[in-house]
Order: sequence, then C-alpha cells, then structure tokens
Amino acid sequence: MSQSAARLVVLVSGSGTNLQALLDAVAEPAFGARVVAVGADRDGIEGLARAERAGVPWFVHRVSDFATRDAWDEALAASITEHKPDLVVSAGFMKILGPRVLTAFPVVNTHPSLLPAFPGAHAVRDALAYGVRVTGCTVHFVDGGVDTGPVIAQRAVAVEDGDDEHSLHERIKTVERGLLVEVVGRLLREGGTVRGRHVYFGSQRKDPQ
Ligand code: GAR
Repeated sequence: MSQSAARLVVLVSGSGTNLQALLDAVAEPAFGARVVAVGADRDGIEGLARAERAGVPWFVHRVSDFATRDAWDEALAASITEHKPDLVVSAGFMKILGPRVLTAFPVVNTHPSLLPAFPGAHAVRDALAYGVRVTGCTVHFVDGGVDTGPVIAQRAVAVEDGDDEHSLHERIKTVERGLLVEVVGRLLREGGTVRGRHVYFGSQRKDPQ
C-alpha cells in the first residue's frame, strides 16, 4: 500500500453505515486514507446519499442493465480503475464480484456472521434460524466464492433471547463498523500478507500452531 494517503473505493448496496464509519475515520488525517469513490449496484440508496454529502464521487452499475454478468464485471472494474484505489472495500455490497475486479485490486468484504458459518445474503436470519447463541462479524479478503476468502479479523456478538433479525443485525453492525475501520486502517498502515488461508498484518510471518 502507498505511503501517502491511501486510496479507497467503497462498494455499497444499502444504508451505507459501514461506509459512513470509513468516511468518519478518514476525516482524521492520521488514518492515512481517503475514500476516492463509492460504487453501487443500485440507485436511490442511502449509501450513495452519504457519498454525495461527503463530496465523494460515486457511480452505479446495475447488473440488469448489462447483457451478461461478465459485461457488468467489466464496467464495474473500469469505473473502479478510474479512481486508482489501493484497496477496494465491499461494505454491504450485495453482489458477487467478478474476476475482472478481483484480479485487478485487493478487495476486503465485511460480513455479518462468524464465517465460515452462515455465508450469503441472509447471514443474520440464518444464524437466528439455526439457533446459535453467538454470532458476529467477519472482515475477509474476497476471492471468487461466496464469502469464502481468507479471514482477516472476526468479532463475536451474543444472541439475546427475543432477538429478531433487525435487533441482532443492528447489534452486529455496531461491532462490525469498528472492526472494519480497524482492519482497513491496519492494512493500509502496516500492510497485509496472505499465506494460504491465513492473513498477517505487517511483517509477521509466523505460521499458526
Ligand atoms: C452489513 O451488516 C454487511 O455485513 C452486510 O450488509 C450490511 C450492510 O450495512 N453484508 C452482507 O450481508 C453481505 N453478505 P450498511 O449498508 O449499513 O453498511
């Protein structure tokens, strides 16, 4: 990652509270990064309104506007490339990224469960339905699968009696925003190394026992 303010492109599909946490964090110069663009797969979302309010350029590519998924991937990769990011952050982006994006940039994703439990679009609902007493959030590098990339960091959140999907997701998101900001900051300041399934910050090279 670059020594000067690192360039982040953040991808969103919804309310964008994780994006907002990053926008708030980068307002502090010591964080060492700028959000240079926000991308979305749909119009009219609060995530884009947050970008607009912050004066950050944004772009939208809807899958349904393209003849093929590959054409969508190409358009998304082209828009991201224009902003020359050091890191792409998928923060509530509800589409599987294609090979053009994934081969061009390192991409981290935040997910509302303790992966590999409950991948996919309904992680909180699935955790509640399963009856787990502890769930949480995961920040991981994105590979070609559905929430299968190497885990960078995780934090646990207890399931309370009487939780519904909304209450549990809101509690997870409170923890998730802090974790995402911490992980992105550390990756930018210290660097990160992926060795197989394992991710290390900085120059640490020790294999797990
Ligand atoms: C977050 O909880 C994120 O982990 C989740 O969507 C929420 C977005 O919230 N993403 C997924 O479920 C992806 N599989 P936000 O729009 O308020 O940041």
